[in-house]
Amino acid sequence: MKRLIIVTGSSRGIGRSIALEINRAFNSDSSFLLLARDLESLESVKGQMVIDSKAKNQIHLVQIDFSAQYEMSDYFSILKNTLTSSQVEKFNEVIAIYNHGTLEFGSVSLIAQENLRQKFETNLFSIWSLLSALNLFIPYSLVPKQTHVNISSGYANEPVANWSGHCCARSARDMLFKCFALEQPGFKILNYEPGIVYTDMLKQACQFSNDYKDGYTSGRFNMPEDTARKLVEIIRENAFLSGSKIKFN
Ligand SMILES: NC(=O)c1ccc[n+]([C@@H]2O[C@H](COP(=O)([O-])OP(=O)(O)OC[C@H]3O[C@@H](n4cnc5c(N)ncnc54)[C@H](OP(=O)(O)O)[C@@H]3O)[C@@H](O)[C@H]2O)c1
Repeated sequence: MKRLIIVTGSSRGIGRSIALEINRAFNSDSSFLLLARDLESLESVKGQMVIDSKAKNQIHLVQIDFSAQYEMSDYFSILKNTLTSSQVEKFNEVIAIYNHGTLEFGSVSLIAQENLRQKFETNLFSIWSLLSALNLFIPYSLVPKQTHVNISSGYANEPVANWSGHCCARSARDMLFKCFALEQPGFKILNYEPGIVYTDMLKQACQFSNDYKDGYTSGRFNMPEDTARKLVEIIRENAFLSGSKIKFN
């Protein structure tokens, strides 16, 4: 078994925990592709993964800014330049976790005055292009066993004043994966809502919401490793309906 596992936004927060937990669960015969901007943090995640897998897994790092308006062809080149064709020929499973994201605050008008396209680039278009590039690079005909997971958010289904940038991008991101599930019935596609998790993003949310601020200090929220472990369990059991959404709690 040779498995390709891709985790975007794996330098910190939920993505970092997903990379660590999935590496512990599949601790041999796996090639990882970890993507984010902060290479130093990615190196540190890699170091831990090498120790945990006793160097039986290969870890490739890609420093990338997902707001940079790359085309699908750019993502295809990144995949091609990182993975050799002899490696690709040996893969018989692909697990891709589309985790990276940013928070956007402000009224509908304010968000429009700021860099609207760049925000959607990071939270939606980069994911659309990467998913498509991967599907072209390793199609169903080459590796039928594939799991693609969007790290979703409660805001995908809930309109909130002054969170329109976030709600719209997250809603579209969920729909993208639901459509992809219908187009690729042989794959397993999941929208996973991680719960409210102690990360840098949550700290940022606390600046804009008293609910988050209160919950943050009272320890009401979840640890990244707990939600990551649950996701890995879901992927391993493989009992979910493709195109569905599962919430941590
Ligand atoms: N925390 C929560 O309570 C919560 C709740 C629901 C959903 N989520 C979702 O879970 C996912 C992870 O959130 P988190 O809380 O772990 O956030 P976080 O701590 O802020 O981490 C975000 C990750 O995304 C990467 N990233 C952000 N912008 C990027 C860019 N332009 N290019 C490349 N990588 C970028 C960051 O890496 P670099 O900075 O190194 O680039 C980092 O690894 C997000 O999609 C978020 O919306 C979080």
